[in-house]
Amino acid sequence: MDNPLKTSLSKQISSRRTFAIISHPDAGKTTLTEKLLLYSGQIHTAGVIRGRKGRKFATSDWMSMEQERGISITASAMQFSYKDVIINILDTPGHEDFSEDTFRTLTAADCAIMVIDAAKGIEKQTLKLFEVCRFKKIPVLTFINKMDMPGRDPLDLMDEVEVALKIKSYAYNWPIGLGKGFCGVYDRLTNQALIFESSAKGGSQLATMSKRTLEDPKILNLIGQSELDQLKEDLSLIDAAGNSFNKEEFLSGNLTPVFFASALSNLGIEPFFDTFINLAPPPSARFADMPDGTEILIDPVKTPFSAYVFKVQSNMNRKHHDSLAFLRICSGEFEKDMVIKHHRLNRNIRLSRPHSMFAGERVTLSSAVAGDIVGVINPSIFFIGDTVSLTGGFNFKPLPQFQPEIFARVTPKNVGKRKAFDKGIKQLAEEGAIQILYNQNQFDSTFYGAVGRLQFEVLQYRLQDEYKVETNLELLPYQCSSWIIGDIDTYKKSFSSIIVKDRWENLMVLFNSSWEKKYAIQENPNHQFIDVKY
Ligand code: G4P
Repeated sequence: MDNPLKTSLSKQISSRRTFAIISHPDAGKTTLTEKLLLYSGQIHTAGVIRGRKGRKFATSDWMSMEQERGISITASAMQFSYKDVIINILDTPGHEDFSEDTFRTLTAADCAIMVIDAAKGIEKQTLKLFEVCRFKKIPVLTFINKMDMPGRDPLDLMDEVEVALKIKSYAYNWPIGLGKGFCGVYDRLTNQALIFESSAKGGSQLATMSKRTLEDPKILNLIGQSELDQLKEDLSLIDAAGNSFNKEEFLSGNLTPVFFASALSNLGIEPFFDTFINLAPPPSARFADMPDGTEILIDPVKTPFSAYVFKVQSNMNRKHHDSLAFLRICSGEFEKDMVIKHHRLNRNIRLSRPHSMFAGERVTLSSAVAGDIVGVINPSIFFIGDTVSLTGGFNFKPLPQFQPEIFARVTPKNVGKRKAFDKGIKQLAEEGAIQILYNQNQFDSTFYGAVGRLQFEVLQYRLQDEYKVETNLELLPYQCSSWIIGDIDTYKKSFSSIIVKDRWENLMVLFNSSWEKKYAIQENPNHQFIDVKY
């Protein structure tokens, strides 16, 4: 007989949809997130979520710097219900310079929505983020936004997705009318045209729509003869020349279903969300390493509680001056006060106050299941990548680490602030915001590496804001780096490169240019150069 407790756990886990929205800045990620909250009933009027241009302040933007700038710097997580599923949405920043935090956050997602601006197509950040999804085999749904504005030809956009991302695409719906004439979408699965009646108040409230088949005589009055002819022509073209939809291919990351919509005006939003909750996978089994080097599969239902730390964040809330570790639960159920094994420290710990996040506020949880993200108070015991579980005996795969591209020396302006400075740097390095690098051959040997320029701005801002330390920053001339594996005595070092060690004593070479790096790779065929440590 089935164990009723397991059956109920299985039901809870299969109702989870844990995902991230990835995009280039301004493509509409925040607007889409907001609409998900609107359609789930969490908010009743759209337009209250973010701090941009004088709107009320942000839910997922935690730090005051983010609020001042109106961008989301740290990745955050929110949980709420939409129809009969529980949504865990991981917020990944999409601005120009972004940190490893973003990449690590993506490892906690079971699926991603890629938002593309219809006028701009695939942009730089989208491509970068998509590469991580591809590497982690995360299924991606493509949301082509701003269809209410003049944009590129939908067939062109489909083609660009395939060429730039090297993935098959399938138009799940097709736009009816473009730009100002965008009035609906044709759902290719149900063979129905969904015609929108413009939503009230510029998209701040739900849109209403009517469903018609193309044979329905009323459709002519709704969209007009020329749109109907164009739609029929487009559909026959994509039916004949396009890919067919295959869920397995989508789940394995080889095919992306494409949706056309306008997040701002709510056109196409509800049908997208409804399809999304059906297509997006619930938490699935994950591989972990055993001490003897073999791998095991951790089943979300059958394996008792297990999780890993994908993010550490200090001083998130001015009311609580502490550090939080964010855990992605991979299996089983977590209960308040549960005693679990911390694998790296090899000791038992009690997790007494697990939190979930909504609107930057902590909500204390009494239980959570696989797929959920919980924040726990971190008295410096959790590092990024740590595995915790009820049974012990395995570790989830290490999280990726990216080679820094920008380097600087940072010092406190006031030497009397050294202690606070060291504390701040240590915490921020533990969060993965920057990497501490040690140059063995020089006095004043410590400096810092980051994946993007903004990370240094954030570092200085946070040192001042949270640790009350003003700093001087001197950028160093190095432009790229690489970890190296091999005998250091036989390594042929170019004139201007230097060799440093990271916090874990791994050797890294810093180069003045990518040309110099290419040359070093050529000159040292017996050494391995590593850009991303997975
Ligand atoms: P992001 O989080 O990806 O950076 O983008 P965000 O949602 O903030 O959207 C960027 C801009 O694009 C915003 O305008 C937003 O209103 C607009 N936008 C988003 N979706 C659509 C859409 O479907 N159609 C149209 N026409 N515009 C859209 P903004 O002027 O920069 O800011 P705001 O004053 O509207 O906040």
